[in-house]
Amino acid sequence: MHKRTLIQAAACAALLAAGGAAFAQQAPFKIGLILPMTGQQATTGRQIEAAARLWIAQNGDTVAGRKVELVLKDDASVPDQTRRLAQELVVNDKVDVLAGMGITPSAMAVAPIATQSRTPLVVMAAATSSITEASPWIVRTSFTLPQVSVALADWAPKNNIKSVVTLVSDYGPGIDAERFFSERFLFNGGKVADKLRVPLRSPDFAPFLQKVRDLKPDALFVFVPSGAGAAVMKQFGERGMDKAGIRLIATGDVTDDDQLADMGDVALGVVTSHHYSAAHPSAANKKFVEAFQKANKNLRPNFMAVGGYDGMRVIYESLKKTGGKGGGQALLDGMKGQIFESPRGPVFIDAQTRDIVQNVYLRKVERKDGQLYNVEFDVLKDVKDPGKTK
Ligand code: DHB
Repeated sequence: MHKRTLIQAAACAALLAAGGAAFAQQAPFKIGLILPMTGQQATTGRQIEAAARLWIAQNGDTVAGRKVELVLKDDASVPDQTRRLAQELVVNDKVDVLAGMGITPSAMAVAPIATQSRTPLVVMAAATSSITEASPWIVRTSFTLPQVSVALADWAPKNNIKSVVTLVSDYGPGIDAERFFSERFLFNGGKVADKLRVPLRSPDFAPFLQKVRDLKPDALFVFVPSGAGAAVMKQFGERGMDKAGIRLIATGDVTDDDQLADMGDVALGVVTSHHYSAAHPSAANKKFVEAFQKANKNLRPNFMAVGGYDGMRVIYESLKKTGGKGGGQALLDGMKGQIFESPRGPVFIDAQTRDIVQNVYLRKVERKDGQLYNVEFDVLKDVKDPGKTK
């Protein structure tokens, strides 16, 4: 009697295990993608969604036999919404990975949820240095502002720019850009005449630009998030800043490929530093840009699109390594240390910091085939985020 019970129990356990495995094979692997599809950061959402869908179209929706499902949610870049959506995705949809994060406050709002639920979070857009330190479950495929700002602070003093005013959006990435650009520029013997901060929401640049005109530095250094660059450029031109002999230098967020074609002549000659240009001259990038434009009514991909595209690759490659099983810790471990050729150039996900190591390019806005592009003229290779405290 006792023996039979044991055998029955064993058979039952085996059945359950087999059933469990079959279930794991059948249940789709879910990617909870939270993006600003509406509101001030909507271009970021549009670019990343298009890139994620392009990745799936090119690489299929099955990885190691497991069906992949994208669950897209719009947080309108309101961090309370991001947090609520992430909670729902984890608890109700049981997503295997969280991804997206259009702005820093969204990434920060979701970090504790990633930690508590042991869900990997792939940050595809937000770029404040400290984000990867907010949770050990975060992996980043975008960039950091310290990473891209320092190269410009080395370039400027060698190119007749001895004094600057900095103008940044008043939140995480802007404060990072201001600090890392200024410190390096001062170290190189430059002078920072003033540091101006504009609100993230509905900024009016006019009074700040007036102040810059009065101070008359050799150059104005700007960081504003993707989508806000065209307004800065327009007002810079309207106030005759360039005619007053003040040069504009910026992180590549300002001469964003999503908006650059419509910025007009005022953008010509603007020097920026960044990790991605749609004009990056590699075969991999040409292929990416062509496919992206073909699938999206000729929309030009920007650096956000590349962060999304590479984020999908990192997820797919890791899922492959686990033989389609995924699993919080195994999935996270599979993301660390990946090395591959991105449309931006060679990249590496540092296993220690979970942040991206990549080339930073100096670029100048030029007209190419009748359209404005950020044309790369110099490169710093394999740049790690200099903002890490550890
Ligand atoms: C962030 C957002 C952006 O649109 C950008 O270009 C850089 C940084 C951010 O909020 O982290």
